[in-house]
Amino acid sequence: MAFNVKNGTQIFNNKDTYVEGWYWALASSKLKKGQKIGIEFLGSQLLIYRGESGKVVAMDPYCPHMGAHLKEGKVIGDQIMCAFHGWKFNENGKCSDIPCQKYADKTDIVPRQGTYPVQEQYGLIWIYSHPDAKGNKVPFFTELENEEVEYVVGHSTFRPCRPEVVMLNAIDAHHFNTVHPEARKMAGNMDLKPIPLSPVTIRLENQTPVPTDNLLGRIVKPLYKRNVLTYFLDYWYASTGVVCLGPDFLHFYLMFPHRPTPNGGTEGTMVFLAKRRKGIFGKLLAKAICWITYVVGTYFEKGDRLIFESIRFDMKAPVKADLPIIEFIRHVEGQTAHEFTESRQVKHPKQHPAAAILSQKEASV
Ligand code: FES
Ligand SMILES: [Fe+2]
Repeated sequence: MAFNVKNGTQIFNNKDTYVEGWYWALASSKLKKGQKIGIEFLGSQLLIYRGESGKVVAMDPYCPHMGAHLKEGKVIGDQIMCAFHGWKFNENGKCSDIPCQKYADKTDIVPRQGTYPVQEQYGLIWIYSHPDAKGNKVPFFTELENEEVEYVVGHSTFRPCRPEVVMLNAIDAHHFNTVHPEARKMAGNMDLKPIPLSPVTIRLENQTPVPTDNLLGRIVKPLYKRNVLTYFLDYWYASTGVVCLGPDFLHFYLMFPHRPTPNGGTEGTMVFLAKRRKGIFGKLLAKAICWITYVVGTYFEKGDRLIFESIRFDMKAPVKADLPIIEFIRHVEGQTAHEFTESRQVKHPKQHPAAAILSQKEASV
């Protein structure tokens, strides 16, 4: 989709839309076996429950019988039973039981509840925005793909601006000079090159060497084999950023999952990860690295807080240093987007179920 900064964008910073993809919903630790919760997810209500097998299910929350919210119901095995009249739905959304009704065997007239793909990764429950994930993957770190990892999940945040705008933070080397002068000392003037990894993922990778105009830079420079400061970010679904940085022998991994709200806001969290080393000592070391990353990551996040509390993003005067941002905007404009008002729910049959029951009754008289 073509765009230019002057005429505005159709998806980037458009508060009426969201990009189709995987979004974090909540921390896995917040949902124990047998628990259920109702959340607002991309502008709609969603029921999430963990069955007794440990499986997590995400489902449209209003019972197709009369609309009771299923969060008031009960988890039985891997199914959920509505609190109002006891209809039961399995993990695929199919109505599996209508107690106390003589036409219980006619469940084919009952609309199915819509369900959404769910995965758990890095301590979070991830849900796809639509009923079919179309083979799209949950955001991950390529370097950690086949590794065992330790992680620490940070606190959740709300920002009154869009995820795409919050994500500019880590690719805006320009603002390191002012908001994070400590980072500027270590990183110098970074030059982030855009590398498309897939239709839904773009990498921005630094091309510049470790700066040697300060003592810290001179100390850490021998730790980098290539004469390039390792700092790259993979941006998934225009909403989740994974960041990798650090010297060759110790890469730090930070993840920033976000999801947009219909009022132009962002619900976010952070995850700090490390490769798990062998043995108990290795496990403890990995956990310690996670916590160090947590302290540094939250420190940087605090520095930006005031900016993102009040920004009204509108890039009227881009300069050359803003090129990575413009590349990211271009990538976002190429995503599949939907309006919040668009229904994601499974279409119900045209004929109202009550009418179907009545016609069956009439036929049998
Ligand atoms: S409203 Fe759910 S069973 Fe009646
Ligand atoms: Fe920042």
